[in-house]
Amino acid sequence: MHPTNQDPTDRETGRHRPSTLEMHLWRDGNEPGQLIPLLQKAQEEFGYIPEHAIRTISTVTRIPESEIFGVITFYKQFRLKPLGRYLIRLCDGTACHVNDAKTLMTLVKEELGLDTDDTTSDGLFTLTPVACLGCCSLAPVIMINDETFGRLTPPKVRQILKEFRQRAAADAAPAGAVPAKGGTKA
Ligand code: FES
Repeated sequence: MHPTNQDPTDRETGRHRPSTLEMHLWRDGNEPGQLIPLLQKAQEEFGYIPEHAIRTISTVTRIPESEIFGVITFYKQFRLKPLGRYLIRLCDGTACHVNDAKTLMTLVKEELGLDTDDTTSDGLFTLTPVACLGCCSLAPVIMINDETFGRLTPPKVRQILKEFRQRAAADAAPAGAVPAKGGTKA
């Protein structure tokens, strides 16, 4: 499902519009054991867990917001911020690890000025480590959205990040501007 951070309010009428999450709540509500599936549902619907979803879940389940927040921060699967436009999955599985994935991780963090599972302030990149991307023969490997890049070196990674920045800039440019090229692959 497509991530969105919109509040579920009808813009024309100003009336509250029930989201899929709320309909799910009304169906399964008031079951304390349902908290994890509800949080998963919220994240599936919005791409992360926004404050209004926490409020809704708290109201219906009567679990205090602070408790829900504690559960969200305890489990690594949950996000409190939206994903960036480009999700960088940097592999630290065995094959990538022995091929110096750690150096690449440090480089990406420095280049983008963020930590793991964090998003750049311009909303462009989110960085997350993964265990294996299933193409170990290309180690070390990263995926950015659905594109895979392998046999990486620090200069290649810098170039890839530059290309993605150029793509974003080209998309934001007025019609008629020359689009930037991208697609450095293994
Ligand atoms: S260990 Fe990195 S792709 Fe398998």
